[in-house]
Amino acid sequence: MKSSFNDTFLRACRKEPTPYVPVWYMRQAGRYQPEYRKIREKYSFFEMNYIPEVCAEVTKLPVDQLGVDAAILFADIVTPLKPIGVEVEIRSGIGPVIDNPIRRVEDVRRLGELDPVSDIPYIMDAVRILTEQLHVPLIGFAGAPFTLASYLIEGGPSKNYHKTKAMMYTEPEAWALLMDKLGDMTITYLRAQIEAGAKAVQVFDSWVGAVSEADYRQFIFPTMHRIFTRLQETGVPLIYFGVGTGHLLRAFNELPVDVLGLDWRVTITQARTEYGVNKALQGNLEPALLLAPWETLERKAKQVLDEGMRQPGYIFNLGHGIFPQCSVETMQKLTEFVHRYTYQNGEMVV
Ligand code: CP3
Repeated sequence: MKSSFNDTFLRACRKEPTPYVPVWYMRQAGRYQPEYRKIREKYSFFEMNYIPEVCAEVTKLPVDQLGVDAAILFADIVTPLKPIGVEVEIRSGIGPVIDNPIRRVEDVRRLGELDPVSDIPYIMDAVRILTEQLHVPLIGFAGAPFTLASYLIEGGPSKNYHKTKAMMYTEPEAWALLMDKLGDMTITYLRAQIEAGAKAVQVFDSWVGAVSEADYRQFIFPTMHRIFTRLQETGVPLIYFGVGTGHLLRAFNELPVDVLGLDWRVTITQARTEYGVNKALQGNLEPALLLAPWETLERKAKQVLDEGMRQPGYIFNLGHGIFPQCSVETMQKLTEFVHRYTYQNGEMVV
């Protein structure tokens, strides 16, 4: 590891004291950056994914440009679905689209197994290049089974997830098999990223907030428990994130993870007190504030930081991803503010 390696983010994940609050952003590489847009003119999304040097370059863009304390691998939650037999496309402004969605147990049976060495060598190569070059930790990531299942079953983005829930309620065999297979894939994929050099992993369960706590516990929790139990063996910090998941935080807190990512609907204090979360926390500035006047953004960021800093184990982030209308200048100013506001004469503040 490089002598100047910045491990602040990893220390915060482990609830160790840090000299300042570390920060990174979900979707920190993307269309809000002119440099990204320029590279994107030459390649499709998956081409960027398939060429390790391009993937590494895009992953590093926000690290150099914003000064964040962690990098996140440039890929998508649907990246590992292609090699297991899913014809998925990413449409700009829409997201992943699948022309022949999964509906019955036979469709689930047809899904293959992921072999990282032969199926996605380019991802492993990108992780190795990045591990070599970065002076901050690389976060590996995967989509969680429910969120992946929602794309596989709905065929694209959805508002109410009725088809996904219908399978959960009416085709228990198909649902259980799908959770098992996607659970295996997630374990294999993340273990491979960790072996190649990822220093932490985040599991994105972006859309799981759509289910009740009872349904989460019955249909989803056992798979998530299995995934995190297996990943714990690697020793790297494990992060779990979902949107609109206040009602699920009690269940999340029972999972063997190190960090929970919060969106903006629940405050950090609420998560710790009302919902009894005792994990490290990551979040949770409302992303729409990135379009507000700087004074408003700064005031709200301060509030989030004041709450977060009350206990060790806090990482600043947005409540969800950066979006294309955001400006690089605002992201730079925010990052600089988080560091300056939380760094006090080199003393450990959290
Ligand atoms: O910088 C990073 O965060 C790393 C890369 C990353 C992408 N997608 C790149 C991407 C990560 C971590 C993701 C995760 C992802 N993808 C999630 C979970 C996080 C979340 O936002 O909830 C989900 C639900 C997806 C599915 C997906 N893929 C969506 C909703 C979109 C956006 C569609 C759009 O055009 O607005 C994508 C495409 C995508 N993934 C882009 C990027 C940079 C845009 C691709 C482009 O057109 O250039």
